[in-house]
Parts: sequence; structure tokens; C-alpha cells
Amino acid sequence: MAEGFFLTFEGLDGSGKSTQLRKLAAHLEAQGLAVTVTRQPGGTRIGDRVRGLLLDSKTEHLDAMTELGLMFSDRAQCIAEVIAPALHGGNVVLCDRFTDSTEAYQGGGRQLGSEVVLRMHKLMCGGLHPDLTILLLAGFDKSLHRARRRNDRTAPADLDEGRFEREDQEFHRRVHDKYREIAARDSHRVVIIDGDRPIEAIHRLITATVDEKLRRAGLLPRLPAAGVR
Ligand code: ADP
Ligand code: TYD
Repeated sequence: MAEGFFLTFEGLDGSGKSTQLRKLAAHLEAQGLAVTVTRQPGGTRIGDRVRGLLLDSKTEHLDAMTELGLMFSDRAQCIAEVIAPALHGGNVVLCDRFTDSTEAYQGGGRQLGSEVVLRMHKLMCGGLHPDLTILLLAGFDKSLHRARRRNDRTAPADLDEGRFEREDQEFHRRVHDKYREIAARDSHRVVIIDGDRPIEAIHRLITATVDEKLRRAGLLPRLPAAGVR
């Protein structure tokens, strides 16, 4: 399906995804590439409404299967409205979270297991898979601390997106473990990057990985061979 390049960012809350995604988008645009940035949940007007329901800590008694269905409803809308058209137009699509998040949080965290998530993916996402996934793994205490501090600092008073961040350590441990399991299973697609390093060091690692993949995909020019002038 894809003519462009589909890259997803994954990791626990506060692992640095949005920071790195913004920096990578600027780096790719500076090389003349057309870049589309989106996120899940959200990324469309309908998706933003679903996001509000999913992330608001005032949402109570949300059944785990309902939560799963809402995550995929949001995703289907984002694919139809944003991702598929951008890929067909040859863009590099950078997406903050995709189905790996559902496998990690609903499959692992909520203990629904991987199978139901992967089956729903097949039904709802039309066979779309990322060409590359950057998985930022920082210590999970550190990630959560960063996410909570960021929300306290930057979230508008009327915006409460803390429903998942309020889950206990065991929940986040299961999410972390499931991410590791996904990375081991899909090692051709998922690149783990140590999220505990400084922001610039992580950015350099990511750009090296991504540029190489884009050269192979023919979206960036190949480097001249060493010694050739
Ligand atoms: P995410 O999108 O994964 O939730 P963010 O990119 O929003 O994470 O980062 C969460 C907070 O941590 C932000 O305040 C950000 O400035 C800070 N941060 C991001 N990456 C790092 C890093 N490598 N080291 C220290 N702080 C970081
Ligand atoms: P996000 O806004 O990316 O949070 P952060 O920037 O703090 O990482 O994601 C919102 C939350 O939604 C996050 O806690 C993970 C959760 N989530 C799921 O549980 N399942 C999913 O499929 C997705 C996409 C997100």
C-alpha cells in the first residue's frame, strides 16, 4: 500500500517520543522531504474527541475491551484521513504511537494479551504496518516522572490527560515488558534506543538509523562510496 515511508515512535509516557519526533521532522524537512506528523490517540478531529474520552482521568469504569475498541476506532480514522493519503502522496509519515502501543498498554498493561490486539489490527488497519519503529526505552520510573512533570508544567488547567499515567507501577512494568517482547519478535522493524541519554545524543542515533533506511528506500540519495570523489 505504502509509496512513502511510515515511521512510528513508541515508548512509555515521558520516554521522549514527542521531543524526538519534532526534531526528526525538522531534520527530514531540512533534507527536502515532505513530512506528515500525526499522533494516536488523536490526529484527526474525530480522533481528538476519542482521545479526550480515553485520557481524561474523570473517565471511569471504561471496560478494557471498550478501551481497546476506541483505540482502534481512533486509529482507523487516522489511517483513512491522514496516514494513507500521505503515504500515497509519497510523504514520510511520523506517527507518535501506533498499534504497538495498543499491544503494550491494552495487551500487556490491561492484560488482554497480544492475540486480540493483532486480530483487531488486521481487521481495522487494512494490513498497514510501519516500515520502521523507534522504541525509546528509558527507565520507567524516570519516564513517568518526566511525563507527570511535563503535564503539570504545560497542560492547560482544563485539560486532564492523566488516566494512564495514574496507573500503578505493575501496570507500567507490564507495558515495558510487552514492548521488549514486541521488539524481540519484530526485530527487523523495531529499533530500541536508550531513552536515558541526553536529547541530542538520542537525536543523532535516530537520524543515523532513519537516514540509512530512507536511503535504502530510495527517498534520500545514497552516500558516495568511501574513497570515491
Ligand atoms: P513523550 O512524548 O514520550 O511522552 P516528551 O517528549 O513529551 O515524552 O518528554 C517528556 C518530558 O521529558 C519533556 O518535558 C521533555 O522535555 C523531557 N525529555 C525528553 N527527552 C529527554 C531526555 N532524553 N532527557 C531528559 N529529559 C527529556
Ligand atoms: P500520549 O499522548 O502519546 O502520551 P505521552 O505523550 O505521555 O506518551 O498517549 C496517551 C496515552 O494513551 C499513553 O498513556 C498511552 C495510551 N495509549 C494506549 O493505552 N493504547 C494505545 O493504543 C495508544 C495509542 C495510547
